[in-house]
Amino acid sequence: MAFYSEKVMDHFANPRNIGEIKDADGVGEVGNPVCGDMMTFYIKVKDNKIEDVKFKTFGCGAAIAVSSIVSEMAVGKTLDEVMNLTNADVAKALGGLPPNKMHCSNLGADALHRAIENYKIKQGK
Ligand code: FES
Repeated sequence: MAFYSEKVMDHFANPRNIGEIKDADGVGEVGNPVCGDMMTFYIKVKDNKIEDVKFKTFGCGAAIAVSSIVSEMAVGKTLDEVMNLTNADVAKALGGLPPNKMHCSNLGADALHRAIENYKIKQGK
């Protein structure tokens, strides 16, 4: 496991914001057909900002660490700021990921973006 940064190991061992928001304003789900990993993000939105984020991830350690850090990065940000969050930003925040694990970082931002899109659809935007 030496190829994982300390930050990845920390978020894998102690993931933040795991769970589900029953009355979520938006829900986004993505899966990777190659590895079969799945991620679902739930968001609460207030005044155009992400007020709360929870996630459920069935996946590898990197996918869990990615979900955890993405949830932390999103809280308090505007919807536009979160939509501009890239997969590279996520991997960088984790202190990098091994090349064969970069696809895991794609799921986090994608799931969050889908949750925002779902919120916008629900709002009729
Ligand atoms: Fe597929 Fe990590 S191995 S998300």
